[in-house]
Amino acid sequence: MWQTAYSHSVRLQQMKNRKVDYFANTLLSYFKLPSHDRELSLTNIDPGTRKRQVGGGPIVVPTTPEAVMEIVNARSYDWHKPGPDARLLRRILGNGLVVAEGQSHKSMRKAVAPAFSGKQIRDLVPLFYKKGRAFVEVLADKAPDGAVEMTTQMSKVTLDIIGSTGIGMDFDTINNQDNKLAQLYEIITGPDRGPIVLFFLINAFLPPVLVENMYGTRYARVANAVRTLRYEVRGLLQEKKQSLEMKQQNDIIATIMRSGDFSDDYLCDQLLTFFAAGHDTTAVSLTWTLYLLSLHAEKQDVLRNECQKLGDPNKLDAEELEHLPYLNAVCNEVLRLYPPVPGTTRRAVVDTKVRGQVLPKGTFCFIPMWTINRLPSLWGDDVNDFRPERWLDGPQASLGGAESAYAFLTFLYGPRSCIGQQFARVEMKCLLLALILRFRFELEDPEAEVKMTGFVTIKPANGLRLKLHDLAKETKN
Ligand code: HEM
Repeated sequence: MWQTAYSHSVRLQQMKNRKVDYFANTLLSYFKLPSHDRELSLTNIDPGTRKRQVGGGPIVVPTTPEAVMEIVNARSYDWHKPGPDARLLRRILGNGLVVAEGQSHKSMRKAVAPAFSGKQIRDLVPLFYKKGRAFVEVLADKAPDGAVEMTTQMSKVTLDIIGSTGIGMDFDTINNQDNKLAQLYEIITGPDRGPIVLFFLINAFLPPVLVENMYGTRYARVANAVRTLRYEVRGLLQEKKQSLEMKQQNDIIATIMRSGDFSDDYLCDQLLTFFAAGHDTTAVSLTWTLYLLSLHAEKQDVLRNECQKLGDPNKLDAEELEHLPYLNAVCNEVLRLYPPVPGTTRRAVVDTKVRGQVLPKGTFCFIPMWTINRLPSLWGDDVNDFRPERWLDGPQASLGGAESAYAFLTFLYGPRSCIGQQFARVEMKCLLLALILRFRFELEDPEAEVKMTGFVTIKPANGLRLKLHDLAKETKN
């Protein structure tokens, strides 16, 4: 998908009279996710370049801030997630906020929004940091054995956090190898794209009754994990309901439960959504953060120096967190360079318009977040450099030097933007703070090429192995 889309990703283009068939343009290309280098070179193609694509038909790829703004914000409800994408997401996430459309989406978003208010998120800072501190202790125990694979570790700590904040339960997967939820998510969202791609294709094109019985295949493994996950989450919800009668709680699902009378199915769908949308994305962001800081030891030092000025490293509150500008800039820069969700798709459900052009109902749209985050025309010639300073100095520093907020699309904008954006940003900063105060990070093999893979999120294909130098031990010696 990325290749096809990026080849058209310089300005808004409507390519008529070519038959776009969804299969050709989107699904097949999932098998061909390009390597990191190829991805970057595609952002440098000449304006107007058109490459032959498989299939044809009306497809829109907005690559100016103005065009993106119209699609995701001004006319957001003219566009839905295309059928095959929504079907796959529904199988994994349930009928939650990510896949709801139209009026149903509006009322669901209203019901869920209080759980993500500014105050709720600020109040979570001590918990995020506490989890981070516990996490570094676990890593410190692992580190003497050599390098540690960080993708899996990050996924565990963020799953623990969404367990505590989402449903008020401590899964403690960082200490518990056998945690069932962690194992299930590893099967579903792990770096091996094969089974999930198959799962996608089968769900998109074959009737469920036919595919439910394909036991023994790699597909069956993912299908089974998805079924078990739903069963497990339903069990957690029952536990939760009993405890909620006893005391008032402040987690996401408790906040939603208090705001109305919702069915178990509804609540289960929300939980599945928050568990999946809320842990893999942040885990991936943190993995890329440590990758970039390992490549740039000098920036790692600048960050650590800033963080060491914290009053008491044993605790943290929201106000202290706001006084760490370099930490904020590092996170912004990583989220720009490696948006965990690199692109998304839409299908027009009514005749609509973009930049004055009429687009007929049925038009397919690919929003290339990653490309836009790296367009030299929006960011300058150093677009591919890891330069947190762009978020600190110079004109428009609050936008990273770009002229429009829509040059940074990592969380999208508008009614379908990421509802967990502030949650993720604050969580990321708290965990990074705990990590950087405890370790100096170095790539285990600086020569090794880090390739990308992933289905909905992008991650290092073979994980990320880092040497962790424990600063607590270095100080003692
Ligand atoms: C770095 C971390 C994250 C990134 C980059 C990210 C990115 C995104 C993006 C790009 C979308 C829009 C997808 C689309 O419409 O195609 C989205 C939607 C969503 N995200 Fe996130 N996300 C992150 C973390 C989180 C967290 C922590 C939560 C919850 C705790 C969350 C919950 C959601 C939900 C519920 C939606 C659907 C919103 C709607 O359609 O109204 N995300 N996210």
